[in-house]
Amino acid sequence: MPMNGKVAIVTGAGQGIGRAIAARLAKDGFAIGCLDFNLDTARETASQISAAGGKAMAVKVDVADREEVFKAVDSVADAYGRLDVMINNAGLGPTTPIEDITPEIYHKVFDVNVGGTYWGIQAAIKHFKKRKPSKKGEVVGKIISASSQAGQVGNPDLAVYGATKFAIRGITQTAAKDLAPLGITANAYCPGIVRTPMMEGIAQKVADENGKSLEWGLEQWAKNVLLGRISEPEDVAACVAFLSGPDSDYITGQALIVDGGMVFN
Ligand SMILES: NC(=O)c1ccc[n+]([C@@H]2O[C@H](COP(=O)([O-])OP(=O)(O)OC[C@H]3O[C@@H](n4cnc5c(N)ncnc54)[C@H](O)[C@@H]3O)[C@@H](O)[C@H]2O)c1
Repeated sequence: MPMNGKVAIVTGAGQGIGRAIAARLAKDGFAIGCLDFNLDTARETASQISAAGGKAMAVKVDVADREEVFKAVDSVADAYGRLDVMINNAGLGPTTPIEDITPEIYHKVFDVNVGGTYWGIQAAIKHFKKRKPSKKGEVVGKIISASSQAGQVGNPDLAVYGATKFAIRGITQTAAKDLAPLGITANAYCPGIVRTPMMEGIAQKVADENGKSLEWGLEQWAKNVLLGRISEPEDVAACVAFLSGPDSDYITGQALIVDGGMVFN
């Protein structure tokens, strides 16, 4: 894998979409900081990248903990000498019928999905600021965060999760405005129904309630997808690769929908 001299951090890189993003960006030449709460799976992602000829390191972090996020981001930037792209991907996706929402669920999901994004942005700015744009419009750092199709429209039983994903779009728009003078762009990606452990958990629940298989549960979602299939993590990673690379330098404050045609804006 030829290196591009740049460094990207991916949170939640231990599985699912985060692992696919880490693998894709490594293929595109980035050295990767694979951050995850689960150090074993983060190490596995880093090993897979190394085995394929890329450069990656694994760091344990709870993205809900501001201090831990700063330490983890610093350790990657120190090891590789710089930071170019920060991907706030880690997230929790519980289904929460509106009457069952508890203060515990609300705080936990907001702390990870929203708090984790604030801390990731702050920790990255510190390193992006080491470079100054030499001319108007030059991009010295990119922030990319996980929103969702559920951050575009309300979905049944997702009042907590959906609210956190709407929040990511709001944070992204403000970050784009606040950070443009520093040469930093901020964008989000909005996956639809992606085959990952998170989605399989939700589909399994629906399947169990109906006495059906996991595959049946996943297929129920595909009915709402114009392109007729649910997403693979690599579909999302391709969008994030575009947002991470130079072809998207003139894009900021946007939330790109990668859902096979579920939501139009
Ligand atoms: N799967 C989908 O269909 C889908 C759709 C839209 C948006 N998304 C979003 O994409 C992102 C990734 O989703 P996924 O399906 O790959 O999820 P996943 O549950 O399969 O993987 C999430 C990863 O994040 C890690 N993680 C969880 N909490 C953490 C914490 N506090 N600190 C550090 N790491 C933590 C987990 O260990 C895991 O490795 C999430 O933000 C999710 O909301 C997913």
